[in-house]
Amino acid sequence: MRGLLADRVALVTGSARGIGRATALAMAEAGADVVVHYRRHRAEAEAVADTIRSRGRQALLVEADLEQESEVHRLFNRVQDAFGHLDILVANAAATAFRPLAELKPHHLERTYRLVVFSLVWAVQRAAPLMEGRQGRIITVSGHGSHFTLPLYATIGSAKSAVESLTRYLAYELGPRRITCNCIAPGVVDTDSARYYTAERWPSFAEAVARHTPLGRVATPEDVARVAVFLASDLAGFVTGQVIAVDGGLTLTSAPFEALPPPRPGSGTVPSSADRERRESPADPLPPAAQGWTKS
Ligand SMILES: NC(=O)c1ccc[n+]([C@@H]2O[C@H](COP(=O)([O-])OP(=O)(O)OC[C@H]3O[C@@H](n4cnc5c(N)ncnc54)[C@H](OP(=O)(O)O)[C@@H]3O)[C@@H](O)[C@H]2O)c1
Repeated sequence: MRGLLADRVALVTGSARGIGRATALAMAEAGADVVVHYRRHRAEAEAVADTIRSRGRQALLVEADLEQESEVHRLFNRVQDAFGHLDILVANAAATAFRPLAELKPHHLERTYRLVVFSLVWAVQRAAPLMEGRQGRIITVSGHGSHFTLPLYATIGSAKSAVESLTRYLAYELGPRRITCNCIAPGVVDTDSARYYTAERWPSFAEAVARHTPLGRVATPEDVARVAVFLASDLAGFVTGQVIAVDGGLTLTSAPFEALPPPRPGSGTVPSSADRERRESPADPLPPAAQGWTKS
């Protein structure tokens, strides 16, 4: 991987933790300078930025709530001021309300779609001009729930279906500007978020997924990050508009998710214990990614 992304500039949204963190570190390892974006986990984001700098690459740390269009602009203004251009955008950040559609409130749907779908479009509108004259790479992140039904997953699953469709349209529209757009669709990845979704049932959930996976285990964040580096590199220069499963073959087996222990309702990112105590209201302006947003 070393040198594959020499002197590129990469922005990875949600790179304080999980898949985003692994992707930011892998991009730096491959030679890129990295914009480390976070929403709530500043200390973790600082640690990622420090690691990148210790590897001899630049790291720009930016906080932004990507549910808000103005915050997306603020993030890209920082990128523009610091680097003047961008080579790679990885739209990774996500959060949602894990609850049945029948119990969904409008703000659950709205917030998930703002963060996962709208912010992708807002970000690409800013990223594309910064990629002009370069060989731009846009990488989106979908997941198993875009095509398969998972318990309590309808909101984010449907948003991820939109992300996959947008990926194809972006590839079509941006191809003439020499920008590729591809989507990574992980299976089940061992991250804070997956563990929060399944709570105390994580060990049995992970074991059942591994049993239905030809390669015999759940994914690691690094499994996903390596594919992101490949897609960002010259090696994938003629690949665009594709959705690439990184799931060890899970999608080949029709894994019976309904037979797995049902996860509890909750949020798509991991709340602090203080957050867990909070009640959310639609009027609550935020910090809520403050993950109470699934609890009312
Ligand atoms: N884990 C899996 O099994 C799995 C499977 C398929 C697809 N995926 C997808 O892979 C991606 C990463 O998943 P993960 O498991 O690594 O998730 P994660 O650990 O929960 O990370 C989510 C990231 O999104 C950021 N975020 C949340 N709300 C935000 C907001 N309002 N504005 C800006 N950023 C926000 C978080 O930032 P802070 O932490 O700083 O708040 C965090 O870095 C997501 O798109 C997810 O849907 C995951």
